[in-house]
Amino acid sequence: MSETQPNEPKVLIPEVRIQERIQELGREITKEYAGKEVVAICVLKSSFIFYSDLLRQIDLPVSCEFLGVSSYGDRRVSSGEVKVTLDINEPLEGKHVLIVEDIVDSGLTLAYLQNNLRGRKPASLKTCALLMKPESMKMEVLVDYVGFKIGSEFVIGYGMDYAGKYRGLPFIGYFEPGH
Ligand code: IMP
Repeated sequence: MSETQPNEPKVLIPEVRIQERIQELGREITKEYAGKEVVAICVLKSSFIFYSDLLRQIDLPVSCEFLGVSSYGDRRVSSGEVKVTLDINEPLEGKHVLIVEDIVDSGLTLAYLQNNLRGRKPASLKTCALLMKPESMKMEVLVDYVGFKIGSEFVIGYGMDYAGKYRGLPFIGYFEPGH
């Protein structure tokens, strides 16, 4: 993809397939957390669409929290640095905390988040990620619920951006190499 003039995105995972998978994840999470006090954390910005769809498939009274992190500038390679741009002010001690992430790429962001949140003494800490790129991972991080495993290609849409754009696409897309 050219840095200045992206072409039309191609579909990697269509909308209907995303929604089917989210229904399955929702059923699994509902079963696992029945009777527990769950706090689901939306990792901003890119998880907001996945989070809102997933939440509506979890048949439990879930508390919602939002945590802003930034690890990418306008480039497609992780900076390796994670900056908290919006923190959670509610105590998480004794709660069953579920991190909801859009994508685990190198794993650096998730490793940082898990470490940070573990320090707040939740009763349990699990992670649900819509996408995972096993070939790109640089850290061993545990992801309890995974929507789809994909290759190391850069993806956009369904909340995920390239240079701040394309978040509103209803599908998960990519740009053909060379453009
Ligand atoms: P990691 O720290 O390398 O695992 O990257 C985590 C964050 O980088 C994700 O939460 C995304 O916001 C962003 N990211 C990683 N890969 C992609 C991608 O293919 N498209 C869009 N954003 C991505």
